[in-house]
Amino acid sequence: MSKVDEREDLHPVVAEAEFETGDHVLVDIEGIEIAVYNTPDGYHAISNYCIHQGGPLCEGPIEGTVVENEAGELEYDHEGKIVSCPWHGWEFDVTTGEHLYRSDYSQPTFDVEVHDEVVYIRW
Ligand code: FES
Repeated sequence: MSKVDEREDLHPVVAEAEFETGDHVLVDIEGIEIAVYNTPDGYHAISNYCIHQGGPLCEGPIEGTVVENEAGELEYDHEGKIVSCPWHGWEFDVTTGEHLYRSDYSQPTFDVEVHDEVVYIRW
C-alpha cells in the first residue's frame, strides 16, 4: 500500500486507465453519494443528491446546452459538462456545481486529485 492509500482524507475512485472522457463513476463515502465525471475539462466531483427534491442527479444524462454567444445567436456549448436530473430536469454544470440559470442553487462539489494514475476524492 502506498502512502497515498494510507491517507484518511483521500478516497480512491477509479484507475485513470479505466476512466474515459464522458464517463462518470458513482461512489459512496460515509453515506454520501458522489459522482466523479471525466469531462473535457478534466475530473470533477459533484453530489448525487439533487438539491431540488433529492433525486439521483447523476443518473441523468450528461450533455451540453444551448447558450447565447456574443453576437446574440444561440449555439450548443458545454458538451459533456451539463447533467440533467432525471426527476424534474434541473440542469447543473458538473465542473462548478451551479444550476444553469440560478447560480445561487448549487450542488456540493468535491476536490479531485490524481496520484499514481488513480483518481481520488479528497474528503
Ligand atoms: S429532484 Fe432533481 S430536479 Fe427535482
